[in-house]
Amino acid sequence: MNRRTFLVTTVGSAGTFHAAAQNYSDYTKDPRPDVAEGAWTAGSTDGPVFAGSPVVSGPAGDVIAILQPLQRMATGHVEYAVEDGPWQRADGDDAGLLPMSEHVLKFCLPPLPPGKLIRYRIVARSAGWVKIRQFYHGEFKAGATQCSPERSFRTLNPAAETTTFAVWNDTHENSETLKSLDALTTPLNPDFLLWNGDQSNDVHFERDMAGQFLNPAGLAIADRWPLAYVRGNHDVRGPAARSLPSFTGTPDDRYYYGFRSGPVAAIVMDTGEDKPDDSPFLSGWGAFQKMQRHQAEWLKAMVTEPWFRDAPHKVLFCHIPLWFNHPRIPNKSFDGSKYCRDLWVPTLVKAGVKLVVSGHTHDYLWMPAKEDQPIAQLIGGAPQPRHATFIQGTATKTELKLRMTKLDGTVINDILLEA
Ligand SMILES: [Fe+2]
Ligand SMILES: [Fe+2]
Repeated sequence: MNRRTFLVTTVGSAGTFHAAAQNYSDYTKDPRPDVAEGAWTAGSTDGPVFAGSPVVSGPAGDVIAILQPLQRMATGHVEYAVEDGPWQRADGDDAGLLPMSEHVLKFCLPPLPPGKLIRYRIVARSAGWVKIRQFYHGEFKAGATQCSPERSFRTLNPAAETTTFAVWNDTHENSETLKSLDALTTPLNPDFLLWNGDQSNDVHFERDMAGQFLNPAGLAIADRWPLAYVRGNHDVRGPAARSLPSFTGTPDDRYYYGFRSGPVAAIVMDTGEDKPDDSPFLSGWGAFQKMQRHQAEWLKAMVTEPWFRDAPHKVLFCHIPLWFNHPRIPNKSFDGSKYCRDLWVPTLVKAGVKLVVSGHTHDYLWMPAKEDQPIAQLIGGAPQPRHATFIQGTATKTELKLRMTKLDGTVINDILLEA
């Protein structure tokens, strides 16, 4: 480079920089004149932040997320300890940002060891932003630190000799049914609770979602054991359905996954809507069939993994039944799961899955395996207390037992499946 070229370049660069600085100065004049200087643009620093109990979700120990419902905008972190070990901290950071939300804080924990007691507590502060005109457009402010009570849960143990679990379905925001199901679950002290879809009627507003999916009827449904969340067809309806991952904790925010608890290998799959993508009912807002094809490929690979292949009992949990071929199932004119059934059942049969547990029809039913239905199917009941059901499962290496009862404890079915 000769001296003349260097000078020209320098002058040119300075000119460019000057123009950029001028633009920046213009930009900072007041981009939001509708907001007064010093006004809150989000949140505040006042008041309590926690709104009810947290939910531990996963359910496997290596994919645990802890979700804390909020009553105002807050930021925070979770502290946890394995058995009597030291407290550790999980920040829930994502792409450089610590969590800050108006309705829920979600913290994904690092992989936890199996079969261990995990103590945890949430530490949070109310938070917000204030408009500052000079130098910054906003300034972050936070209130005093608040700490939730210490709680604990036990991680699933794939090597355990036995397991116990509870299944709810189609609660549809029915407070009386939810309270009865919670009362039946507490004495069972299950290894996990599986909530088999249609938690909601539809999902319109984020402000309602903690009440729909985390603290229904104000209950602490899964702060003492992990939750296995299953998505139902009502939970995909409404504009806020796209915010569901903020209010649920599943592996990689997918609604299809597998996990092992003692002798049971569980598969959770997402049956999506109960109508085809081109149905006039959907008006073009769904692409479930693509997701179901993707799940078929995922399933083929998952069932070859040793933790699944070697399990004495293999069970599929999905919201919509895979078979509708029974005189008691209403609306038989429309087969809401044919697409899933055709895609998934050959793999399920080959992999040795012996039971499908579902809901959706609002009419409980036990359907043993038969010629045109190669896998047994248990369908849970309705949202109304009179027709609702509670399913409890217990398994040893040789037997899987399921008991379906009404909310008053009346036994509907006792089912025994051998390994
Ligand atoms: Fe339902
Ligand atoms: Fe449903």
